[in-house]
Amino acid sequence: MIVTIDGPAGAGKSTVSRLLAAELGFRFLDTGSMYRAITWAALDRQVPLDDHAGLAALAGAVTIVVTDQGLTVDGADVTRAIRDPTVTRNIGPVADNPEVRRVMVELQRRIASDGDYVCEGRDQGTVAFPNAECKIYLTASPEHRAQRRVGDLAERGLSGDYETILEEQMARDFRDQNRAVGRLQQAPDAIVVDTDNLSVDEVVQKLKQIVQTKIAGRKS
Ligand code: C5P
Repeated sequence: MIVTIDGPAGAGKSTVSRLLAAELGFRFLDTGSMYRAITWAALDRQVPLDDHAGLAALAGAVTIVVTDQGLTVDGADVTRAIRDPTVTRNIGPVADNPEVRRVMVELQRRIASDGDYVCEGRDQGTVAFPNAECKIYLTASPEHRAQRRVGDLAERGLSGDYETILEEQMARDFRDQNRAVGRLQQAPDAIVVDTDNLSVDEVVQKLKQIVQTKIAGRKS
C-alpha cells in the first residue's frame, strides 16, 4: 500500500510521516531529501543553479541511495549536509527543473515498488503516485510552520531567525505552488488534515486512523 503525504514546508510532514510509517510497519520515503541531495551535489560540484541542462545532466548522473537512516550521493553520506540552510535556500531552481523532477519521480516509483510505503513530499499524491490508495494533505498556518522550523533547526544545533524563516517560507510556498511541473496542490481525493492545534502524537494517531479505515474498506 502507498500512503502519500503532501503539503507545504513546515507542516510537520517529515516527523509525522516517519512516525506513522513506524506505527504501520511501512517504509518511509522523504522525497524532499532527494531534491536537497541534487541541490547539495550542484553546490558541491559547482554546477550553476541557472544551468538547466547542467542540473538535468547532474540528476541523471548521480546515484542517490535512500536508506532508513539517511541518504548518500555517489557513496557520500549527505544526511546532515542536505539540511544546511544554504541547501534550503538554493533548492528552488532544482525543484523547478522538469527533467530533474522526471528523474526523481522515476526513482521514487522504483523505490516504492517493493512494499508498503509512506511517501512524503509535494507531488506524491498528484504526480508520483496518482493511484495511491491513501492520500493525505497536511497543512498548517504559515506562522505555526515557521515556528516549527525554528524549533527543528534548534534541535540540530542551528539557529534561525523567525521573521527571516517566515519570509523565506512564504517565498518557497509561492514557488512550490506555482512551478510548471509537480506543483504543490491538493489531490482531489486527498484527505486534508490541519495540524495547527494538534500535537505530533495527535496528528500521527489521526493519520493512522485514516489509513486503517482505508485498509478496512479494502477488506470489506
Ligand atoms: O520537504 P522539504 O522541505 O525537505 O523539501 C525541500 C524542497 O524540495 C521543498 O521546498 C520543495 O521545493 C522541494 N520538493 C519538491 N517535491 C517534493 C518534495 C520536495 O519540489 N516531492
